[in-house]
Amino acid sequence: MKQKEILLFGATGQIGRNLIRKLTKNNYKVTAVTRNIHRAGYKLKTQANPGYLNLVELKRFDVNKIEELIKNCSICINLIGILYEKKNQNFKMIHSDLPSLLSIKANEFKIEKFIHISALGIEKAYDSNYAKSKLEGEKRILKNFNNSIILKPSIVYSVDDNFTTNFMTLLSRLPVMPIYYNGRTKFSPIHVLDLVEILFQLINGKNQKLVLECLGPEVITFKEILNKLLNSINKKRLLLPLPLPIASLSAKILQILPKPLLTEDQLKLLKYDNTKSGLYDTNFDIGIKADRIFDVELEKYSFNWRSGGQFSKNNKLGQTK
Ligand SMILES: NC(=O)c1ccc[n+]([C@@H]2O[C@H](COP(=O)([O-])OP(=O)(O)OC[C@H]3O[C@@H](n4cnc5c(N)ncnc54)[C@H](OP(=O)(O)O)[C@@H]3O)[C@@H](O)[C@H]2O)c1
Repeated sequence: MKQKEILLFGATGQIGRNLIRKLTKNNYKVTAVTRNIHRAGYKLKTQANPGYLNLVELKRFDVNKIEELIKNCSICINLIGILYEKKNQNFKMIHSDLPSLLSIKANEFKIEKFIHISALGIEKAYDSNYAKSKLEGEKRILKNFNNSIILKPSIVYSVDDNFTTNFMTLLSRLPVMPIYYNGRTKFSPIHVLDLVEILFQLINGKNQKLVLECLGPEVITFKEILNKLLNSINKKRLLLPLPLPIASLSAKILQILPKPLLTEDQLKLLKYDNTKSGLYDTNFDIGIKADRIFDVELEKYSFNWRSGGQFSKNNKLGQTK
């Protein structure tokens, strides 16, 4: 049987890197698209055996180049996403126009399937531009191509994420950590390897039009997540609930930074729970479990943020790492 050729947009991110490892270990040929081959090459080349990974540079969304790439693949996967807008990239362009273009081309060249990663909990977030753009992207994809699969994950975590690792850095440096909406927003964090397993099974599964929510096994509030991170790095910090007007003002200031810690749009999004919506099936409904437990996985890498690093003890567990 001819091995499937997988085309991956947004391959250098957390999910992309882990997916490349899984696919190439299972003898898939992957073409990974990046904006900057020199910056991304060293990260990606180590993820696969020689011969299984091909890197392609695409600076702008050049339609001719995209056509050429899609024409030669069996499955196209889009992992491109942004958390804040900049001069040269906005939510509509990245979350709606690009996925729409990719799905139109997937339909035109009759590839096997198009898989797109959107986000969970965006249906009710009418006031967030991020949410609106992701939702519009989903609608356009489903209209453009029948064999489209849209995955909607809650927060994805792992040793190489931008979430637990950034928060552990902040928590280990700041004496006080501001929290928004009293830290009550709920999440169902999913470990990246569980999400990659869902992707892998869908890549191998039947062609279908599917929207799937991807959840981990737990529902945890934002405050509980921060407390778990603090426990894991043996730190005690004051979690200070910020009144909304002050939170909005801080977001207004923070969003000026080149890599903002918080934007006004993210603050709006944080108001909404990031858990099963009841609108779509979840991975559990279709028999793909995601059973990695947040605490257990965190324990495998949080020692990097403890005093003493790998030689430290976790006071909570009383074990030497
Ligand atoms: N991680 C999560 O917790 C989470 C949760 C829900 C949904 N998602 C969604 O899942 C997808 C993948 O997530 P991830 O965490 O792996 O993402 P990530 O680490 O932020 O990586 C996203 C990738 O998008 C590419 N990219 C960013 N801006 C771009 C632009 N202007 N033009 C072209 N490419 C651009 C980058 O590739 P290059 O720099 O190599 O070009 C980058 O590798 C995203 O759509 C994200 O919204 C993630």
